[in-house]
Amino acid sequence: MTSRHLVVTGGAGFIGSALVHHIIEHTDDIVTVVDSLTYAGNRASLEGLPRTRVRLEVQDITDALEMDDIIRDADAVIHCAAESHNDNSLADPSPFVQTNLVGTYTLLESVRRHGVRLHHVSTDEVFGDLALDDPQRFTETTPYHPSSPYSATKAGSDLLVGAWVRSFGVRATLSICSNNYGPRQHVEKFIPRQITNLLDGVRPRLYGTGANVRDWIHADDHAAAVLRILDAGEIGETYLVGADGERSNREVVRAILRHMGRAEDDYELVADRPGHDLRYAIDASRLCDELGWTPRYGDFEAGLEDTIRWYRENEDRWRPQKAATEAMYRAAGQ
Ligand code: NAD
Ligand code: DAU
Repeated sequence: MTSRHLVVTGGAGFIGSALVHHIIEHTDDIVTVVDSLTYAGNRASLEGLPRTRVRLEVQDITDALEMDDIIRDADAVIHCAAESHNDNSLADPSPFVQTNLVGTYTLLESVRRHGVRLHHVSTDEVFGDLALDDPQRFTETTPYHPSSPYSATKAGSDLLVGAWVRSFGVRATLSICSNNYGPRQHVEKFIPRQITNLLDGVRPRLYGTGANVRDWIHADDHAAAVLRILDAGEIGETYLVGADGERSNREVVRAILRHMGRAEDDYELVADRPGHDLRYAIDASRLCDELGWTPRYGDFEAGLEDTIRWYRENEDRWRPQKAATEAMYRAAGQ
C-alpha cells in the first residue's frame, strides 16, 4: 500500500479524531491534523497515536496563508472542522458562520490553488426533518431545508463545495452522515451528557417529550465510510452514511439508564430546543451498493455499552468540560 499525506481538519474533535485513529489503524498514511482547539477540541483525543505518523498543527482553518502552507504538500484534505452543536448555534450563530462557511471557503480556495483532492464531511441536518410516520428516508436527491443556524451553515458549506467542483474543477466528494456516538464525544452532546450526568448522580435530561428520533451510527463506522469515499467515490458526488439506527431520544435514555443499572424511567423532561428537528433517517444504500461499505457496529446496544465504559474509564478526558457545559445548559433552562 502506498502511503499518502492526509490533512484532517478538526482532527482533535469527536469525528475527526475517530477518523485519525481509523486511518492509523487501517492504512500506512501519514496525517497532519489542523485544529484550532476550540472548547470542542482536545489534544488528548490524539494520545497514543504514533508521532512519526500524526502531527498536530494548531491553526484556524480561516487563516488562508497557514492553510496554504499545510495543504500544498498534501495528497488530500478531509474536512471535519466545524462548529457542531445546535444548542450553541441558537445562543450565538457567529462562530458557525465564520468556521463553517468562511472556513470551508478558505479550504476550497487552498485546494483549488494547489490541485489537492478534498473530502467534505457534512450532516443529515441539511435536509431538515421528517415526520415520525414518513415512510421515506433521506437520500442523495432529498432537497436541502435546514432548520437551525448550525444546519444552515453546514448546508451553505455543502453548496460551496458543489460550486467549486463545477466552476473550478476542484476534485471533491461529500458525505452526509446521521448522528454519531462513541468515545471522545464532547459532554455537551446528548449521549455523553446523559452518561456523565448519571456518573455524577444527576438524572438524564430529555428535551420536550423525548419523542424526537435520531438515526445513530458509531463514529468508527462513519470514519470507515469517509475513507472508502476518499478512495473510491466519484468526484462531484454525494454519499449518505447511516447504519439503520433510528431510535427516539426516550428509547436511548432508557437504554442508557438500563445499562447503568438504574430504573428506566428515572429521567427528567426539560424545556424543548427551539425549532427542534423531529426525525432524521438515512438511506445509505448508494454507499453500500456502489462502494461496498457496511457498518461494523450493527448492534447499537453493544456500542452504547462500550461507550458507557469509555466514559467511566476516562473521566480525566471529560471532567474538565463538564461543569462549564452544565452551567451553559442551566442558563438555557435545560
Ligand atoms: P466537534 O465539535 O466534536 O469537533 C470539531 C473540531 O473542529 C474541534 O476539534 C474544534 O477544535 C475544531 N474547530 C472548530 N472550529 C475550527 C476552526 N475555525 N479551525 C480549526 N479547527 C476548528 O464536532 P464533530 O461532532 O466531531 O463533527 C465533525 C464534523 O462532522 C462536522 O463537520 C459536523 O458537521 C459533522 N457531523 C457530525 C455528526 C455528529 O453526530 N457529531 C454527524 C454528521 C456530521
Ligand atoms: O444528525 C447529525 C447531527 O447530529 C450533527 O450534524 C451534529 O453535529 C450533532 O450534534 C447531532 O445533532 P443533534 O442536534 O441531533 O445532536 P444532540 O446530541 O445535540 O441531540 C440529540 C437529540 O437529543 C436531539 O433530538 C436533542 C436531544 N437532547 C439533546 C441534549 C443535549 C436531549 O433530549 N437532551 C439533551 O440534554
